[in-house]
Amino acid sequence: MSIAEAPTFVVGSQPKFAHYCTSIVNRIGDLLWERKLGVRTRGRAESPHHDAHAYGYLSYHTYFTILDRLLLQPSDVVVDLGCGKGRIVCCAACYDIREAIGVEIDPQLARSAKNNVSQLRLRRAPARITTESAIDFDFDATTVVVMFHPFGIKTLEGVLQRIDESCRRIPRRLRIVYANPLFDHVLAAQDSFTRYDAWLPKTWDRLKFPVYFYEHRS
Ligand SMILES: C[S@@+](CC[C@H](N)C(=O)[O-])C[C@H]1O[C@@H](n2cnc3c(N)ncnc32)[C@H](O)[C@@H]1O
Repeated sequence: MSIAEAPTFVVGSQPKFAHYCTSIVNRIGDLLWERKLGVRTRGRAESPHHDAHAYGYLSYHTYFTILDRLLLQPSDVVVDLGCGKGRIVCCAACYDIREAIGVEIDPQLARSAKNNVSQLRLRRAPARITTESAIDFDFDATTVVVMFHPFGIKTLEGVLQRIDESCRRIPRRLRIVYANPLFDHVLAAQDSFTRYDAWLPKTWDRLKFPVYFYEHRS
């Protein structure tokens, strides 16, 4: 199957026993990472905001595997759109990059993220959290955008337009990582972006959702 042919969404594809075992491994791994990094990002929270999805996260193992795959450079600015309590920002700040930024619409979650970023151990890069909608964020310095199913189609379309405008104004390599890509058809329909990799969960994977990698064509 080519990358372009990968299905837009696969859920429940792991047999229950494999899912149960790998989820336990993920949970234990998450506890150890939180202790090592000195942060607390667990828990769920519904979002009261229009077109926003509830707070949730993937395992530290998944986020570090994604960030490894990106082969990040010291010039990279990694932005997590809908950063929740800042798990991805904390992971990204452990790499030798220019900056890790979290954008969060919910002030309470953003406060937790700021707290986590300020307490982060093993930091190798500056990190900050901004409390605003992703649609209002200034993308001009961004080289990597990460999204774990943060918002609905309307917001996604607006965000992609802003990113495209920014890349046309300031041509650069910009990649988008879309985890749990429920609205992948929106991204796939854009001429400006090409999907260059697609991860689909296999039977014994610790990965629980598909993760798609896109690049801006500029
Ligand atoms: C599924 S959670 C992902 C959390 C985080 N990225 C992680 O993986 O650990 C989605 C987050 O996106 C936030 N969000 C939703 N709409 C947003 C928007 N328009 N701008 C910024 N954040 C938004 C929600 O408040 C929620 O915290």
